[in-house]
Amino acid sequence: MNLKTDFSAFKGKSFLKLLDYTPEEISTLINLAAELKALKKAGTPHKYLEGKNVALIFEKTSTRTRCAFEVAASDLGMGTTYLDPVASQIGKKESIADTARVIGRMYDGIEYRGFGQEIVEELAKHAGVPVFNGLTNEFHPTQILADFLTIKEHFGKLEGINFVYMGDARYNMGNSLMVGCAKMGLNFTACAPKEYFPDKALIAECEAIAEKTGATLSFETDPVKATANADVIYTDVWVSMGEPAEVWKERIDALLPYQVNAELMANAGKNAVFMHCLPAFHDLNTGVGKEVGEKFGLDALEVTDEVFESSKSIVFDEAENRMHTIKAVMLSAMM
Ligand code: CP
Ligand code: NVA
Repeated sequence: MNLKTDFSAFKGKSFLKLLDYTPEEISTLINLAAELKALKKAGTPHKYLEGKNVALIFEKTSTRTRCAFEVAASDLGMGTTYLDPVASQIGKKESIADTARVIGRMYDGIEYRGFGQEIVEELAKHAGVPVFNGLTNEFHPTQILADFLTIKEHFGKLEGINFVYMGDARYNMGNSLMVGCAKMGLNFTACAPKEYFPDKALIAECEAIAEKTGATLSFETDPVKATANADVIYTDVWVSMGEPAEVWKERIDALLPYQVNAELMANAGKNAVFMHCLPAFHDLNTGVGKEVGEKFGLDALEVTDEVFESSKSIVFDEAENRMHTIKAVMLSAMM
């Protein structure tokens, strides 16, 4: 093993949410990902998990997360099995606890994307092998590792970065970004109408973390105030997977003033970047984007095409980094 990063403390550990990790541990995963990225770019083989297998359970659809797990597993020498949102017995004919014990007997690790956070926690409790959270309603921790690797590559640091999250901050992305920023010493601002701010208990937990790390947390309803001095402006879809289509109207009514547009980017200053976990509704070239856009007379939803396609947008670096960071998560737990 010729890797410089010491990740021995992660052996056998499930990766379920960032709240379970210290800032030092999160840094270790980001550094390991950077090291694995350099190996990949140099064409250096790194099949450290040859002969092992990982099960990929997706109860919701995915492009990036699935591809990232599959390519990372292949690069590490592992086999994969993809269980799609309809074809397995999970939850319908077999409980999570039983599924965990079956899959845990056959595989060395399990990725799970689905609904409540309690499901992935339950899976981890019974599986006997590491479980990786590939997105729940509450958290999307592997995405934050990729986002932070991208910020580090771009700005050379995480601490002290002014990070503004625009839009529905109550869901997986808003929650996980707030936790990640609190842990890693970024200045986090959620900008939305008050009803879209994160859960009060989670805010209190993050405030306690921030006191120790030097991070700050703010909650702002005015987009101009929120984005002045921002280094990163981040947004996500206004309606998440698993939510009913009927909520589009209330979301558009509430969140249209928080759309990331060129004026907002200009307000942030010349060095600010735009980030998005993707997929994004920046034009009408998707089934949902077209239907919703035409119904409400909009040509884009959470971000304009102008910003998405601009040189300030680092969304595809972010998407690539999903693979390198997921590889670090699997390697550290399964080596
Ligand atoms: N960002 C993200 O998780 O993308 P997918 O839904 O395509 O996996
Ligand atoms: N909030 C989005 C994130 C997608 C990566 C969703 O849950 O659909």
